[in-house]
Amino acid sequence: MILSKDIVKDDNPLLKEKSVDVEIPLSKEDENTLKEMIEYIFNSIDEEISAKYDLRAAVGIAAPQIGVLKKMIVIYTFDELGNEWFLPIVNPKIVSYSDELAYLKTGEGCLSVDREVSGLVMRPKRTTFKGYIYDNGELVYKTIKLENYLSIVFNHEYDHLRGILFPDRINKENPFFIPNNASPIKFEGEEDEK
Ligand code: NI
Repeated sequence: MILSKDIVKDDNPLLKEKSVDVEIPLSKEDENTLKEMIEYIFNSIDEEISAKYDLRAAVGIAAPQIGVLKKMIVIYTFDELGNEWFLPIVNPKIVSYSDELAYLKTGEGCLSVDREVSGLVMRPKRTTFKGYIYDNGELVYKTIKLENYLSIVFNHEYDHLRGILFPDRINKENPFFIPNNASPIKFEGEEDEK
């Protein structure tokens, strides 16, 4: 199983590298990598397991973060309306994204960045990608449209495949600058801002 010590940190130049396409059908080795990534996410949000192994909770992980420069990402999270999303993705390719931007008011975090980084990260509000979704041992080629929170999470993970980390996306001169075409993600149950 993947432990905290196995997560590649941002001082490692490996995270600046670009990942390559995974060969389809998946080799046993690649399939195992993907399964380990899936296992990490679920372990990281399991109260007992994460406490026992001191795992940092994550909503997504990309293969480079465990030292594998191949295009695989796993997302498991809930969108702003509370819908569950489980996306183990192989060879994602962005088809289109909106000019409109979205951001998290609290900024972003990353398993590979072990420190607080303040500043906002602007992401496309909507993203459409193509790729293989791993489902019970089968790969299914799909086109998937994501918006708001899921678009942010996907773009964060996708960036790992091209060697970009979220601090690279923060405006250097003005870390809290909000462009005119950007809006914050509002989660269900969240109070309106006064
Ligand atoms: Ni990350």
